[in-house]
Amino acid sequence: MARKKIIAGNWKMNKTPSEAVALVEELKDLVKNDEVDVVYCVPAIDIVPVVEATKGTNVAVGAENMYFEESGAYTGEISAPMLVDAGVKYVIIGHSERRDYFKEDDVLLNKKVKKAFASGLTPILCCGESLEQREDGITMEWIKSQIIADLAGVSADDVKKLVIAYEPIWAIGTGKTATSDQAQEVCKGIRDLIADMYDAATAEAVRIQYGGSMNAGNAAELLAKPDIDGGLIGGASLKADFGKVVNYNK
Ligand code: 13P
Repeated sequence: MARKKIIAGNWKMNKTPSEAVALVEELKDLVKNDEVDVVYCVPAIDIVPVVEATKGTNVAVGAENMYFEESGAYTGEISAPMLVDAGVKYVIIGHSERRDYFKEDDVLLNKKVKKAFASGLTPILCCGESLEQREDGITMEWIKSQIIADLAGVSADDVKKLVIAYEPIWAIGTGKTATSDQAQEVCKGIRDLIADMYDAATAEAVRIQYGGSMNAGNAAELLAKPDIDGGLIGGASLKADFGKVVNYNK
């Protein structure tokens, strides 16, 4: 069965609750496309109003982060049950900004991935190399190490539902996109790794996104590649252009 494309916006730390609702309204008619899963990953404080504003539309809501504990004394954190109760379906885990600025490591991210699945959320697990790692020729080695550690103890059945976002750090917010061949090469490498770690059926089912300056101008070429099943989009998800990314095939 062909994998359904999944186009997700990562709003990062943008949009107040009222601005968030206004953006949902602005994009409502522009992001209709039955052939694609559309997700808005939004700041925690925007989740409740965005779930409300997207009711009855084709848009699912995701969180940008969560903590792995069920509840308790973890000031400032948000739990999986809170997300589920609010109507969230997806959660970004291990974005490079969280790995870099907030020192999230693979041991922590593995716990988050497992908690997300145990709670019925679909993780969007991010991986990607720095410019230095690419220049040193260790891109695939690095990404393999991330994925192996982040998925330790995760079952094949869960990995079949997983979304992996390949985001080269040097392409994030820089306007510099990986070429479609570079992105395809790594996404294929990730799929091959999943086949090695699990089996061919799991590798065939897992959806792999590209992220890093994806926009209305380059989406169609990237999404035409056989192992690129969608996009995780930062800057271009905050404007009307996002509708063009979602409708890359029209
Ligand atoms: P940009 O699309 O702004 O480069 O951000 C990509 C990203 O980090 C999505 O998670």
